[in-house]
Amino acid sequence: MATSPEKDPFSGIETTGHEWDGIKELNNPLPRWWLWILYACVVWAVGYWIAMPAWPLISSYTKGVLGHSQRVIIAESIEQAKQAQAQWLTRIEAASVADIRADPELLDFALAGGRSAFAVNCSQCHGRGAAGFKGYPNLNDDAWLWGGTVEQIYFTIKHGIRTQDDPDARWSQMPAFGKDGLLEREQIGAVVEYTLAISGQEHDADRAAQGQAVFVEQCAACHLESGTGNIELGAPNLTDAIWLYGGDRQALTDAVVNARFGVMPAWGLKLDDATVKQLAVYVHALGGGQ
Ligand code: HEC
Ligand code: HEC
Repeated sequence: MATSPEKDPFSGIETTGHEWDGIKELNNPLPRWWLWILYACVVWAVGYWIAMPAWPLISSYTKGVLGHSQRVIIAESIEQAKQAQAQWLTRIEAASVADIRADPELLDFALAGGRSAFAVNCSQCHGRGAAGFKGYPNLNDDAWLWGGTVEQIYFTIKHGIRTQDDPDARWSQMPAFGKDGLLEREQIGAVVEYTLAISGQEHDADRAAQGQAVFVEQCAACHLESGTGNIELGAPNLTDAIWLYGGDRQALTDAVVNARFGVMPAWGLKLDDATVKQLAVYVHALGGGQ
């Protein structure tokens, strides 16, 4: 029920004349300054709609008279970064991996580039920290199947391992002594005991002694008589505690019966040479480079 304006007896403020169940509405207008800010915001908003991209249309949007676009800004900064990198990449292309290591500035750039290329291309097999998995070697230690100088690492990455795609790939093939019937069961058991012995593990001494002869005859050509391996053939050292596929009796038996045949792609066919060089320098610097 509307009545004529009256003053509220408690606060002395006029009422609006609105009343509900005896509760009266006081007439407290919005402060001037607040209203002016509101009007200014409305004017600003209209100006903004005109100047900047604002309203969605069916298949596009109003572009605004200033032509502002985040996409263009990103494309420009990518272009700038590419130009800044280009001079480094040209220098890396022209340098050998040893030259890169000798130049601290170039090395810094190559390590950063190598780290990101590793995360994209290599971590799915070798792990994010390059610590490897069963069958995929740890690249942080100083045990190298194919050699740990930066040149050897570069060659391995560039040409790959046991891949048909690159004629220069690292290649070797351990015979499947059990599957192909090259050794008797007895001989396999014995040579496995011998391998346990030379790697400092618990073993049956009598059988290991029998296994030594088998080892010298069948395995030493690749793993050497000492069992310390041969990087020319990618034949692992069997005397350290570092195993690619596991060093217990079961894993060793499996290796001798079925052999192993680890394959790595030839990265030189997929990545440009500057990237392969940065990867080689990065992997070499991981801790175990020689
Ligand atoms: C598809 C899986 C796979 C991917 C991806 C992969 N590797 Fe490998 N890599 C292997 C395997 C398997 C071996 C071991 C081969 C063997 O048994 O000799 C290996 C071995 C290596 C070796 C030799 C280690 C040694 O001890 O001599 C290097 C170096 C290496 N990888 C670097 C890289 C780099 C750098 C990348 C990324 C560009 C990469 N790998 C990506 C599977 C992979
Ligand atoms: C023609 C060369 C060659 C001969 C002969 C050979 N090996 Fe190998 N062996 C290799 C290569 C190469 C690898 C690594 C394969 C890979 O990385 O996939 C290997 C891997 C192994 C492994 C796995 C090591 C690990 O770190 O997991 C064991 C164990 C092994 N050999 C034992 C033997 C024994 C025992 C004999 C003799 C009965 C033998 N090998 C004969 C080349 C050979």
